[in-house]
Amino acid sequence: MNNIKDYENLNQKKVLLRLDLNVPLNNGEIKDQTRINKILPIIEFLLNKNTKIIIISHVGRPRGRINKNLSLIPVCKNLEKKINKKIKIINSDIFKLRKEDLFEDPNDQIVFLENIRFYKEEEENDSTFAKHLAGLADLFVNDAFSCSHRSHSSICKITEFLPSFAGLQFETEINALKKVTTEIKKPITCIIGGSKISTKIGIIKNIIPKFDNIIIVGGMANNILSHKGYQIGKSIKEENCEKIINEIFETSKNYSCTITYPEDVLVGKNLDDTSQVKELNNIKDDDLILDIGPKTINKIKNIIENSETILWNGPAGYFENPNFANGSYEIAKTIVKEHKKKSIYSVAGGGDTIALINQINAIEDFNFVSTAGGAFLEYLEGKELPGIKALK
Ligand code: 3PG
Repeated sequence: MNNIKDYENLNQKKVLLRLDLNVPLNNGEIKDQTRINKILPIIEFLLNKNTKIIIISHVGRPRGRINKNLSLIPVCKNLEKKINKKIKIINSDIFKLRKEDLFEDPNDQIVFLENIRFYKEEEENDSTFAKHLAGLADLFVNDAFSCSHRSHSSICKITEFLPSFAGLQFETEINALKKVTTEIKKPITCIIGGSKISTKIGIIKNIIPKFDNIIIVGGMANNILSHKGYQIGKSIKEENCEKIINEIFETSKNYSCTITYPEDVLVGKNLDDTSQVKELNNIKDDDLILDIGPKTINKIKNIIENSETILWNGPAGYFENPNFANGSYEIAKTIVKEHKKKSIYSVAGGGDTIALINQINAIEDFNFVSTAGGAFLEYLEGKELPGIKALK
């Protein structure tokens, strides 16, 4: 895999730069800027080399339709301030763009395409779309390691049409994850939460052989509770997961891996509600499970205290409402405490997990914080990610 830092003579080259600026947005307000901060080095590098940069990113899952709540304009404005340079946002139809239209004003050095997932062709890994994108530039740089588990046009197909390179953050992420997977100290625990159940549930079975403990919290835990026969009310749940959950528990028996899931929960009637502790057999039809309860927190603390390595991906609850943030905060604080006390090796990954750790100012207290969520887990599975393969 070639890295852009080794490319000679970038002067005046037009670089199509794929970034992951999928930051948490609420009515246009950026709730966590970490993913933007992490790509500043590649922007600075490309500016210093006197290139012209065409930024491509996605935010959210608009599923091929224009959705003004998922516009990248707030992100573009934020980036503009950070680098103190004008960025031209392009929200006209990508199919109508021509290479010569992009930098008509010779002072323009960066243009920023609107959310690439507004085009259904992106997620279809469409060849015509990728070829058209490629026609806008001379080189392609992927600095979105956290999207490398997606076989999408601007990650994979594009590499068939342009000389393609890994970016600076991409390399940093891979090197850190390589270290985690080769120099692991046991016992090793993986905590998996968040709301992207479909992205993560299939991965758990495959990582069981590598872990002593897998702790399942967040949305996926609802699937487990339902599988175990508990009512989960109106809580989020992925359909058709019975087979995979059976396989998870069966596989864990063949390896010395303990699967831990909530023993009690916090519920509300809606996302803005206050919280109420509930035993698992007392969940009502109109309850939403939004966090783990105190017994579960204690159990998880105990596992963390007895681990040498912790990988954490995805919050334990709906931490956007502080009434349901306690489980995630307690996990974070316990990891930090153990890290300071006996230097456990700790890695956290994913946009929401980073946002949460930032809320308690603990980013520096983890050995490595990866911007990647799903990509991080798929990397742990040992699979070659499509975005990495494409760069080779
Ligand atoms: C992420 O947040 O993990 C990446 O931006 C990929 O997003 P996705 O899960 O919507 O593909």
